[in-house]
Amino acid sequence: MYQMCKAVAFIELDSERYLADFESGALIKMSDKREKILGENIQGKYYEKGDFSEDPLLFAELEDGGYFQEVIQPLSTAYVHVTNICNLNCIGCYSYDRTRNCTDKLTLENYSYILSELAKNGVETVTISGGEPLIRKDIIEICRYAKDKAKISVLNLITNGTLYNEEQIKQLKKYVDALAVSIDGYSTENSQFLRDAGSFQKAVEFVRRVKELGLPVSILPTLHKKNIKAIGEYMKLSRELQVPISFSLLTCSGELKDFIPTDQDLSFLAEYLCEYMKNGVVPLQDYSELEARKSCGAGSSIISVTSEGDIYPCHMMHDTNTVMGNILERPLKEILYNAKPLPNVEDIEKCQNCEMKYLCGGGCKARALLINGSWEKPDPYCSLNMDFYKRFLKEKRNSEKRK
Ligand SMILES: C[S@@+](CC[C@H](N)C(=O)[O-])C[C@H]1O[C@@H](n2cnc3c(N)ncnc32)[C@H](O)[C@@H]1O
Ligand code: SF4
Ligand code: SF4
Repeated sequence: MYQMCKAVAFIELDSERYLADFESGALIKMSDKREKILGENIQGKYYEKGDFSEDPLLFAELEDGGYFQEVIQPLSTAYVHVTNICNLNCIGCYSYDRTRNCTDKLTLENYSYILSELAKNGVETVTISGGEPLIRKDIIEICRYAKDKAKISVLNLITNGTLYNEEQIKQLKKYVDALAVSIDGYSTENSQFLRDAGSFQKAVEFVRRVKELGLPVSILPTLHKKNIKAIGEYMKLSRELQVPISFSLLTCSGELKDFIPTDQDLSFLAEYLCEYMKNGVVPLQDYSELEARKSCGAGSSIISVTSEGDIYPCHMMHDTNTVMGNILERPLKEILYNAKPLPNVEDIEKCQNCEMKYLCGGGCKARALLINGSWEKPDPYCSLNMDFYKRFLKEKRNSEKRK
């Protein structure tokens, strides 16, 4: 992808139209056809090489004249919410809003366009979410389009696992790489924290049947103050079911304060995860590998699309104040180009002297916004980040010494 520089304008010289670049001083002669190819509002506009198929010479002239800058597209992952209808009522559900259980606005054609736009802009991994995605009658067609037409490399789908339909799973198996089934409790005796009664048993049965049909499936518990200490029980459940496990951390506002872990709970979690990590896997989303970074990637490498087509920097940030635009109203590249980047770790005062800052990247922006009221503020789960990365590095050093 190429971005036109901002110091360009169409000018007229002796009755001829030119495209002037006031930075490099270059001039390119225009014609009606050339102006049509370039379109309107060209300052900072994005182009693909293919946009110039009718006039490759124009592309060469723009490149030679320094009008263009090649842009490395950083977008890699998107959450796509295919419905906001759901048969459950989980406490703290991030996708709950005024559209919950209203008729779906977007059609299969809308989602086909959305998936193509995502792929065109570099997205390789799509997680289908909702609402409950398996409620959508055309979910198979959406997944087929994602895999076969949009050529999404990794297509995951998250479900509450309460609506098993064998035929649907057999069809999904052709297109979906893996299902993640959200699990709340960890045994029939202790079956729920956030989810509706009876959902645990259904989800476990769902996992067993999907596994039997040969579609890769994992369990996905959400951790919070009330179940953090039971992390070992979830691990046990994953071993019993013989499926992988991955955790997410409940992201919520201070209204759900009974669910927000204390620093002591977070320290326990960091210690547990590092102990587990000796086996080579860390099953907590966002903490699974050492990677140099200045931010969590929200709004730059990751975006979330709602069931109305609104784009947000992250699925945990579906807050009207953070909306970047609507993908059905404006091309995605324009939305991304005009979006104000979220502050990175170098913009967060408290993180400046932290020795872990380029591993942590300042932590989770959604938590900072929801609990501390601003992106500029530090992640309220800083103690987890700090403890985890310190232990991770120590363990890495020790294992290198042992070699
Ligand atoms: C919104 S649900 C949609 C898919 C499906 N209905 C389900 O429950 O799996 C996707 C995942 O987000 C998790 N989730 C929902 N609200 C959350 C929150 N506030 N913080 C962390 N995870 C959350 C759910 O537990 C689930 O694993
Ligand atoms: S099942 Fe999923 S979408 Fe439905 S309320 Fe629970 S977390 Fe939200
Ligand atoms: S560990 Fe804490 S202080 Fe350090 S970068 Fe992360 S959030 Fe900031």
